Amino acid sequence: MPDSVIGQPLDRVDGKAKVTGAARYAGDTQATGRLAFGVIVTSTIGQGTISGTDTAAAKRAPGVLMVMTHENAPRQAAFKHAGEDRHARPKPQLTERVVHHHGEPVALVVAETFEQANAAARMVKVSCKAEPGLYDFNDAKRLARTPREIEESKAHSKVGDFDKGFAQGAVKIDATYSTPYQNHNPMEPPASVAEWSGEKLTIHSAVQLVHSAHQSIADTLKIPPRNVEVVSEYIGGGFGGKLPVYADAILAALAARELKRPVKVVMTRQQMFEMAAHRAATLQRVRLAADGEGKLTAIAHEVWSQSARMDEYTESAASSTRAIYAAPNRLTRHLIVPLDLPVADSMRAPGDAVGQLAVEQAMDELADKLNLDPLELRLRNEPAEDPEKNIPFSTRSLVACLKDGAERFGWSHRARTPGTMKDGQWLVGMGMATAIRPNFRRPASARVHMDERRHLTVEMDMTDVGTGSYTIFAQVAAELLEVPVEDVTVQLGHSGYPKTPGSGGSFGAASCTSALREACIALKAKLDAGQGPGNLSAEGKSEPGDEYKKFSQYSYGANFAEVAVDATTGEVRLRRMLGVFDAGRILNAKTARSQLIGGMIWGVSSALHEAGIVDPRFGSFVNNDLAGYHVPVHADIPASLDAVMLAGFDDKSSPLGSKGVGELGICGAGAAIANAVFNACGVRVRDYPITPDKILNGFLRPNLAQQR
Ligand code: MOS
Repeated sequence: MPDSVIGQPLDRVDGKAKVTGAARYAGDTQATGRLAFGVIVTSTIGQGTISGTDTAAAKRAPGVLMVMTHENAPRQAAFKHAGEDRHARPKPQLTERVVHHHGEPVALVVAETFEQANAAARMVKVSCKAEPGLYDFNDAKRLARTPREIEESKAHSKVGDFDKGFAQGAVKIDATYSTPYQNHNPMEPPASVAEWSGEKLTIHSAVQLVHSAHQSIADTLKIPPRNVEVVSEYIGGGFGGKLPVYADAILAALAARELKRPVKVVMTRQQMFEMAAHRAATLQRVRLAADGEGKLTAIAHEVWSQSARMDEYTESAASSTRAIYAAPNRLTRHLIVPLDLPVADSMRAPGDAVGQLAVEQAMDELADKLNLDPLELRLRNEPAEDPEKNIPFSTRSLVACLKDGAERFGWSHRARTPGTMKDGQWLVGMGMATAIRPNFRRPASARVHMDERRHLTVEMDMTDVGTGSYTIFAQVAAELLEVPVEDVTVQLGHSGYPKTPGSGGSFGAASCTSALREACIALKAKLDAGQGPGNLSAEGKSEPGDEYKKFSQYSYGANFAEVAVDATTGEVRLRRMLGVFDAGRILNAKTARSQLIGGMIWGVSSALHEAGIVDPRFGSFVNNDLAGYHVPVHADIPASLDAVMLAGFDDKSSPLGSKGVGELGICGAGAAIANAVFNACGVRVRDYPITPDKILNGFLRPNLAQQR
């Protein structure tokens, strides 16, 4: 056995099951009874009320078993505004005549086959009285208000006197950036198969947070949680889009109870654009002032983000700006713009993914104005402690990431003057940006069992959304109990297993391995006491302690990108990209790297490709498929895109030293590309994504494009 199993770049322990099709995703569930299929019918207006439903034709259609609308839907708990646990709330379906947004479920058709349900769904006639809705984010500032459902201290912060500090600066930037809607599009859509046995419901559903989903489903149906089992063993991507419970789960459960047979409901790709969550569009004003040496005297980051009028959500884009650079005078502010659109929620690195698109481009603009290397500007503003909380950082390795990355990438070859490096028709440029992401920790618990043959079974209600949870738990248990990894079976995603926070906020690995470590220590104590081996079990619990309050915890990185911009068409090609990261101790070098490069590629997407487009007349997402909604394909991503992980260990984060890694890769990645585009061609695009039309506009009318 190598010295440490933890950290090894092991292949996924669930890899074989996944590539052979043995891994059962929610929609693959083979029910014990004869499965019926549900298809959801959605509203075609953005705002108004249902005036009548005509389900007669659908009910007569071949194979149809039931048509559910607000007129006959079973009673459910009332909707609640977000309090403590946003994703454990009741999610009632088809209980109101009010239509809150385009694409909201208005009926469910269940039939013997999917095709029959789909055909009959088209025969359901729901008449609506449309009312004018607010759909256009361009009115952002006029409609903005302070969030009500997060604490004041989370929404706003102030240190020193920003106005005074800004006035003192020798060089200033005051720029506004915009980021578009992004729609959740994991490979696997939200899907559920529900089956009842008497009073008891078993529901296989693609959810990131099993415990929250369990509560949400039980509460919505007004049944005791002990009568519900949620199963989510394999998930085809989460990214925040499966944090909530959606209509597929609730409607499958309700229909299965009425019909006394199992029902499957899967969201279609097009429905996902409006029924699943999206990332809110933002407007972000960043003001930076620096003295002649490039030391920041003031930093302000103000955010306006879209929120659904029916359900508030704040895109916390300025949160990490509170810790990113030193400056004596600081201001952050989040305002929301409630619109009659589908519900916004978390998407990979909520807040930071879009916040750093703004702040890190602003830093590049400041460096340009100072005539200072943008990397040097970051080095000159490195804080000694958390600049707003005035507590030490647990670890802070930004400087190491910046320097290491610059060295590996060949940053010294970057041309100082934009537009001067040419390769035939292409203008070539380099850009860089900082990555910073808070490290979260949550309470978790775990159980380990050892049989006579010293084979271990680990149980947690944790999920593996594709990140590698199964694999890192096997590694941790193997190392701590000194058995080969092959002798560990990891079982996840059942609500009956010990409670964990689930997959979200990059807190899964540190939270769950801490609990698993406790369980292993407890089991080892039993072994040491001469109790085994043979049918020994132990449980462990872990929660963030004081260290978590006493130290400011983030993970860090530095992104470097080289792009080529076609001097005639404004087309951008990414040529090379490198991220250097520190997320404490890496639990599996292969799965962590996959997370990081996946995040970086999403950063490329944010910079160059991706945007959900709202029709301001109807409040619908119009490019609601993967033909109209652009994400990078292989041809967009060069082979020379890599992530390097610095050796780290953060004992304040967790006893095993790891920090969150899943969301770090996207942070700052898009800004590095935006900054490379500027370095290549001299056009500064502040309105993401940076599409050729915007660059062309800069070529043709440079002053207009610069000001925006
Ligand atoms: Mo994450 S965006 O909390 O799944």
